[in-house]
Amino acid sequence: MKTLVTVGRGGTGKSSFTALMAKSFIEAGQSPLLLVDADPDQNLAEMLGIDLKEAGKSTIADLLVSTFIEQGGTTVGVPPTQRIESRIWEKGLYESKNFDFLSVGTKWVEGCYCMPNSALKGALESLTKNYKFILVDSPAGLENLNRRITSNVNDIFDILDHSKKSQDHVRRAVKIANEVDMKFENFYLVGGYRFPAELGKQAEADLKFKYLGKIEADEQLDEYVLNGKSLLELPNNNKAYLSVKNILKTLDYL
Ligand SMILES: Nc1ncnc2c1ncn2[C@@H]1O[C@H](COP(=O)(O)OP(=O)(O)OP(=O)(O)O)[C@@H](O)[C@H]1O
Ligand SMILES: [Mg+2]
Repeated sequence: MKTLVTVGRGGTGKSSFTALMAKSFIEAGQSPLLLVDADPDQNLAEMLGIDLKEAGKSTIADLLVSTFIEQGGTTVGVPPTQRIESRIWEKGLYESKNFDFLSVGTKWVEGCYCMPNSALKGALESLTKNYKFILVDSPAGLENLNRRITSNVNDIFDILDHSKKSQDHVRRAVKIANEVDMKFENFYLVGGYRFPAELGKQAEADLKFKYLGKIEADEQLDEYVLNGKSLLELPNNNKAYLSVKNILKTLDYL
C-alpha cells in the first residue's frame, strides 16, 4: 500500500495530475485504488466523471454535520473518528469498478475545522491495507498537511509553475510536514504544465529535491476540464497523460 499526495500552489495542475495518476494505475491494472479529494473546492470528482450527489454519496464534512449536529448529538467529548467511521463507509465511499473515491468537503463549523480531517485520518487508517494506492489531491493552502489527514505518506509531489512562489510553496510544504510530524519517504518536484522544462535541474539544485519531469501543456486536457469531461476518458496517446505515466515509470510504479 502506498499513499501519494499531490500538493502545489493554486492552479498548478494538482487535480489533473492526480486524475492522470489514477488513469495510469487503472490502465496498468494497479488496483484497488482509493482517490481522496482533500480540497474543499472538490474539483477532482468532476475530473473523474463522478457526481457524488447523484450517486447518493456525501462528503465527509456533510456526514459530520448530519451525524453530530442534525441528529442532535454533541461533538463535545466524542471521538469523531469512531462515531463517523461506519457512516463514511456507508454514505461517503463512492465505489466504482476501477477505483473508490472520498471527498473531504468544505470546512464546516468554526472551531471544529480539524474534525473532517481527523475523521478521515482514522477512516483511512482502518482501510489502508485494502488499497494498493491511495492518491490524495490537496488544496493549495496545505490544510491537509496542517491537519494531519495523512500521517504516513510515501511520496509527496509538489507541482511547480513558472513563478518563484512555487519554490516558496515547496519550502513551506516541507516545513509544515515536518512541523506536524508527518512521515513521508520522498518529496518530489514535478514541473506543471506552465513550468519551463529547462528550469528543472535548477529547481532540483535550489530545493534539493529530485525533479521527476514535466507535465506537458495539453489543449485537449484543458478542453476536457472546461467541459467537465472525465480525464479518465482521455485517449491513451494524450500528451499530458503520457508525461504523468512517464513520471510514474521513473518511480517503478508502472
Ligand atoms: N497539462 C495541462 N495542460 C493544459 N492545461 C492544464 C493542464 N493541467 C491543468 N490544466 C488547466 O489548468 C487549470 C487548473 O488545473 P487543476 O485544476 O488541475 O489545478 P489545481 O492545481 O488542482 O488547481 P486548484 O489549486 O484550483 O485546485 C485547469 O483549467 C486545467 O484545465
Ligand atoms: Mg485542485
